[in-house]
Amino acid sequence: MRTLILYGSKHGCTAKCAYLLRDKLENADVIDLSQNSSVSLSLDDYDAVLIGTSVYVGKINKAVAKFCTANLDKLKAKRIGLFVCCGLPEKAMEQLETGFPKELVQAARVKAYFGYQYEMDQLNFFERIIMRLVGKHRNETAIRHAAIEDFARSFVQENWR
Ligand SMILES: Cc1cc2nc3c(=O)[nH]c(=O)nc-3n(C[C@H](O)[C@H](O)[C@H](O)COP(=O)(O)O)c2cc1C
Repeated sequence: MRTLILYGSKHGCTAKCAYLLRDKLENADVIDLSQNSSVSLSLDDYDAVLIGTSVYVGKINKAVAKFCTANLDKLKAKRIGLFVCCGLPEKAMEQLETGFPKELVQAARVKAYFGYQYEMDQLNFFERIIMRLVGKHRNETAIRHAAIEDFARSFVQENWR
């Protein structure tokens, strides 16, 4: 079985998680949707597609949302897993479920929250202002390695059924 991991990441956290996930799976390729919008043809080569996004001001990554909407029928025919990186753990699942197309959320066999990361020197002027308003001033890394491990494990188990 071949697995494709697609992601959209603005400052690298979701990218890092996508590669950590790749390292726990056999035969998985990784593509950054922000850099490659024309992956639709190569979807045919994969049985499973895992899609990750970060969240900014309540919205999932634009390239991810656009890709999922444009390829919804093809994606629904695959084994699907969804993951999210965002700073609000209590809102993570809600943001995932409202951000991705509803039918894709329903089709997903695994959904998970992989944590977050802030690196102040990577943020632009407006992003820093927003972070100051919510009381965040320092770099923080809170990637949930155990959640990535669990996601990989349950996805492999799902695929055996
Ligand atoms: C300007 C700004 C806005 C953000 N808005 C949200 C938000 O609405 N909800 C949330 O849960 N996290 C929010 N975050 C946190 C990011 O989702 C988090 O830092 C994530 O790890 C970024 O992933 P990326 O590096 O892959 O883009 C925000 C972060 C920044 C800098």
